[in-house]
Amino acid sequence: MTQTLGLIGSGMIGGTVARLAVAAGIDVVLSNSRGPESLADLVAELGEHASAATPAEAARAGDLVVATIPLHAYDRLPAADLAGKTVVDTMNYYPDRDGDLPELSGGALTSTALVQRHLAGAPDRSALPVAGDDEGAKAQVARLLDALGYDAVDVGTIADSWRVQPGTPVYVQPYFPSQLPEGLDLDESLRWFVDTPGVPVPADQVRKLADQAVL
Ligand SMILES: NC(=O)c1ccc[n+]([C@@H]2O[C@H](COP(=O)([O-])OP(=O)(O)OC[C@H]3O[C@@H](n4cnc5c(N)ncnc54)[C@H](OP(=O)(O)O)[C@@H]3O)[C@@H](O)[C@H]2O)c1
Repeated sequence: MTQTLGLIGSGMIGGTVARLAVAAGIDVVLSNSRGPESLADLVAELGEHASAATPAEAARAGDLVVATIPLHAYDRLPAADLAGKTVVDTMNYYPDRDGDLPELSGGALTSTALVQRHLAGAPDRSALPVAGDDEGAKAQVARLLDALGYDAVDVGTIADSWRVQPGTPVYVQPYFPSQLPEGLDLDESLRWFVDTPGVPVPADQVRKLADQAVL
């Protein structure tokens, strides 16, 4: 059971969650963009179970943290202070409010995937495509890849897996900094792949390349 709920954002949603949490006997640490002093009235209203802090402090204080700010500010969520925490994301993408976020307007990522990528703390995180017929199994594989340090990109069913097989745009080559030099025999090609340091391929790029595959 959550004992202390950290809130990053204390507006309509954050304030409401805080009221419900306090009524349930849970301590809350509220935060916003303007600083703890601007939350004095809300803290006073909520009583002894509530306090106000900076977003980083609220992140560290919570054994569960709710991120509930306008999505355009997602990259100011304190990723280092949220490392290892479960974060609940209430945020939605409203282009009129948040401006154009190309990965969202282009459909490459969901808003929560964008937030997750920020919180994963590694902008250079590489992704691998995953295909399968069982959603639960794919989720299990995605969790394993996450633990190993990779994002997973769901490219569909086993019937769709041709999209990531040899000769397709996403297969092997994008994970290298340059094209395989021409004129190498098989042994030389293998050596080149082994000796050449790889480069990360982010999830949106893996998705794009898998979509580009043609039969
Ligand atoms: N309202 C709804 O019915 C509803 C429903 C579902 C989801 N959502 C989503 O939930 C999120 C919050 O909605 P809301 O209605 O609660 O918004 P809101 O009333 O406008 O409150 C936003 C809160 O975020 C804080 N904030 C803004 N930038 C911040 C930053 N960089 N660091 C820390 N705090 C920051 C604001 O603090 P300051 O005031 O100090 O700037 C304010 O406390 C939005 O993404 C919204 O789309 C809303």
